[in-house]
Amino acid sequence: MPEFWTFAVARDDLGRTTVAETKTPVLTDGEALLRVDRVGLTANNVTYAVLGDAMRYWEFFPGSAYEIGLEWGLPPVWGFAEVVESTVEGVTIGQRVYGYFPPASHLVVRPERVDETGFRDGAAHRASLPSPYNAYRSTVGDPAYRADQEDLLVLFRPLFFTSFMLADQVSDNGFYDADQLILSSASSKTAYAAAFELHGRGHRLIGLTSPGNVAFTSALGCYDQVLTYDEVSALSPVPTVYLDLSGSPSTREALRAHLGDGLVRDIAVGLTNQIPNAAAAGEVFFAPVQMRKRRQDWGRDGLDQRFAEAWQRFAGAAEQWVDVEAGAGPSGLRDAWLEVFHGRTSPRVGHIVQL
Ligand SMILES: NC(=O)c1ccc[n+]([C@@H]2O[C@H](COP(=O)([O-])OP(=O)(O)OC[C@H]3O[C@@H](n4cnc5c(N)ncnc54)[C@H](OP(=O)(O)O)[C@@H]3O)[C@@H](O)[C@H]2O)c1
Repeated sequence: MPEFWTFAVARDDLGRTTVAETKTPVLTDGEALLRVDRVGLTANNVTYAVLGDAMRYWEFFPGSAYEIGLEWGLPPVWGFAEVVESTVEGVTIGQRVYGYFPPASHLVVRPERVDETGFRDGAAHRASLPSPYNAYRSTVGDPAYRADQEDLLVLFRPLFFTSFMLADQVSDNGFYDADQLILSSASSKTAYAAAFELHGRGHRLIGLTSPGNVAFTSALGCYDQVLTYDEVSALSPVPTVYLDLSGSPSTREALRAHLGDGLVRDIAVGLTNQIPNAAAAGEVFFAPVQMRKRRQDWGRDGLDQRFAEAWQRFAGAAEQWVDVEAGAGPSGLRDAWLEVFHGRTSPRVGHIVQL
């Protein structure tokens, strides 16, 4: 295996993949080299690729930086990396950080706003992209970090952060005066983490899932009821909020037909079916928006602290719900990508790749 490489997918056919050897990166002043160490792959990473052009996810890690043609895209992944070279004070060799990475052996960053919590990549091409994706969090001093929970953090941290912010937004808005909340792709990590956060707050939570995932989803105990996509007509016609993580047009149609005006909010959160749903839904949930609000309300440390407490509660439960399947290197990454892309992964499995 070459020392420096990148995995990529064809932008017009996400099931076509390649691995390219890349040149040894040479740093200029103000840069640091990260060796990407351990990353996760879930449906969320496929969504980044599906929305690669529309939401500019391809722009975080442009193929040009890895000498790979424009037809290829680098789907971003989350995980841990280590600083292996640095020209920047405060960014030290051996420092371990959590963040957003290319599916590659390495990433050159231009650290800015360096402090004891980590740094931001100030590379010019990332400046106009959503800022939460540009932050690299040092493991030292991170209230959510525990060395024995690294794999859970790799898999769940961004997903749980979304779920935490989504649950917060829903309760911040008085549950939109609805009586019940429906989540599709209820077996997904993001959906069940949101249900975990919302469960027991006085509103009925209903999960919609595929027939094969009903048993898993019911056993989580996060939902008051779990139905298959074909059982929408069994829903009570009471004021309802729909949190759509599947993006399935037929499920949306069935809900609208069955609930009529009772469907008080229709919010696109995800699209596991790989069909963009922003236009069809009434609105789109984007975690950084609620995060900005809470940073103002609670301050950065206040938000960090609340997130860390919620994370520890969730992590205690989630470790029972996921079996980590660990692969290695570029071929492990490709195998995990294809499994997840083709929807062949059981909801119990969390793919991790040691690069
Ligand atoms: N808005 C945001 O800020 C934000 C942040 C994080 C995640 N999300 C989104 O939330 C969604 C869930 O992400 P995740 O990483 O939590 O997912 P995950 O745990 O990998 O979800 C797996 C589940 O998704 C469904 N699924 C997976 N592949 C599929 C396929 N090819 N076709 C149809 N259904 C498929 C199945 O659920 P069912 O059988 O239950 O349908 C499966 O059990 C993603 O679309 C992600 O982008 C949004």
